[in-house]
Amino acid sequence: MNVYDSARMADILTANGYAAAETPEDVDLVILNTCHIREKAAEKLYSELGRLNRFKQARRRKGKNMVFAVGGCVGQAEGKELLCRAPFVDLVMGPQNYHRLPQLLCRAETEAVVEIEFPAESKFDHLPESSSNDTSETGVSAFLTIQEGCDRFCTFCVVPYTRGAEYSRAVGDIEGEARRLICQGAREITLLGQNVNAYHGSDGDKELSLANLIHRLAEIEGLERLRYTTSHPRDLSEDLIAAHGDVAKLMPSLHLPVQSGSDRILKAMNRQHTAKDYCRLVNELRAARPDIALSSDFIVGFPGESDSEFEETLALAEKIDYAQAYSFKYSPRPGTPAAETDYQVPEDIKSARLAALQSVLARSQSDFNATMIGRTLPVLFEKPGRHANQMLGRSPYGQWVHTDLSADVRGRIADVFITRAHTNSLAGQSAIDPNALTPLNVSQAAVMVKGQSA
Ligand code: 5AD
Ligand code: SF4
Repeated sequence: MNVYDSARMADILTANGYAAAETPEDVDLVILNTCHIREKAAEKLYSELGRLNRFKQARRRKGKNMVFAVGGCVGQAEGKELLCRAPFVDLVMGPQNYHRLPQLLCRAETEAVVEIEFPAESKFDHLPESSSNDTSETGVSAFLTIQEGCDRFCTFCVVPYTRGAEYSRAVGDIEGEARRLICQGAREITLLGQNVNAYHGSDGDKELSLANLIHRLAEIEGLERLRYTTSHPRDLSEDLIAAHGDVAKLMPSLHLPVQSGSDRILKAMNRQHTAKDYCRLVNELRAARPDIALSSDFIVGFPGESDSEFEETLALAEKIDYAQAYSFKYSPRPGTPAAETDYQVPEDIKSARLAALQSVLARSQSDFNATMIGRTLPVLFEKPGRHANQMLGRSPYGQWVHTDLSADVRGRIADVFITRAHTNSLAGQSAIDPNALTPLNVSQAAVMVKGQSA
C-alpha cells in the first residue's frame, strides 16, 4: 500500500509542478514513506534520514534548501517525537493526510509541521487523477487501494492505530480508477486494503461486498487479471470463496494470513478464529478452485508461545502446504496490547523457531514450483529481465517466469512451457513469433497471443 500511496503523492506533486530529480544535488524535496509494522522497518527511517542529511547539509552550504518530509505510519505513530530525534525534518504527516501535501509543504517553508490528525474528509475525494499516460510508470500490473484501515485489533498489530478505522471507497470511484489504469497500460489490477475482504463500498443506495466488486470489475474490457490482498480469515465470506470458482479473471492465488497454528495463541492474538476454522476455509477454497495457490503470514515468538504451541504452527504449515509465505519474529510495537504483556520470548528462541518454520515453508514453496515443470502456463509479461533478450512475466499463481524473448511483449499474455523451477521463480520457453505481433492497444490487450505461440 505504501507503493500505491507514494504514486498518489507523486500525482499530487506533479500536478503542482514538481518533477523527479535526476541527481541528489538537484533535490528540493525528499519524502520518506514509512512502515511501522515491525521495529526493523521503523528503524530504517532513521538510518536513511542520516544518509540523506549529508546531501541536505551540502545543499545548505550552497545556500539551497532540501525539504525533508516523513509520511506513512512511522510519521503517524511518532509525530512530534520524530522531530526530537531528527530535528532536520521539516514535515511529519500520517497516511491520511497526504492529499494536503501542497498546503503542508507551503507551511513547512517557515516552520516544522506535524500533521497526524485523522481528517474528517476522505483523502480519496481530494486526490488528483493519475497524471501519467505512460505505460512504463503505471506498469502492466497495477495496485488500486479499495479499502483502508482495520477494525480487527489483533493484539500484535499497529495498523488499527496508524491507518485508523476501516474505510471502504465507493464503487464508482474504484471503477473509474480501474478504467484509467487500464488506459495507461495496466492489464492486471491488485485490489489493496489492510483487511481488503472486509470491503463494503457504496454503490448508489446499495452496498457491495468484495465479491460483488470483483464481479463488476471483471466486466471491464482490457482488464485481464484481478487479485486482492490482504485478507483476514474471519472476513472470507461464502460469496468471495465462490468468486474464486466463478470469475475467470480472478487469479488462482490468495494471501490468507494465519499467523499461528495454536488456538491458545490465536486467541491471545485476538484473531477470532481457530486453526480448525482456518483449515475449513482452505478446504472450501480448494473445493471452489482446486489449483488455488495459497500464501500466508506467520509470527513466531508471540508473547507466551511455548515449544509445543510453536510445534502446532509447524504442523499447520506442513498440512496446508503453502505455495509461498512470509514469516516474522514477533516485534513488540508501542501501544499494542501484546507489547505490554510479560513472558516475552527470548530473541534466540525466536530466531531458532523462525529458522525451523522457514525451512518447512521453503520446502513447500520449492515443491509447489516444481509441480509447474512440464506445464504450459499463460504468462502476463511485465518487463525485460536482467539479461539481454529476456522477458519477465507472472504466472496465474503469481510466480515470476523468465523467458528468452527478443520481442517486447510487455502487456501481453502468452503461453510459456515451463522447463525449470527455482525457489522464487520459474523459467520456460515461449513460441511467440515476434514478426506476427500486432501493435497492442487497450481492446487488443484482451487478445491472447496463443494463436501465435502454440
Ligand atoms: N511483529 C511481527 N510481525 C508482525 N506483523 C504485524 N505486526 C507484527 C508484529 N508486531 C506481520 C503479520 C502481518 C504482516 C503484515 O506483518 O504477520 O500479517
Ligand atoms: Fe493488523 Fe491485519 Fe489484524 Fe488488522 S487484521 S489488526 S491489519 S494483522
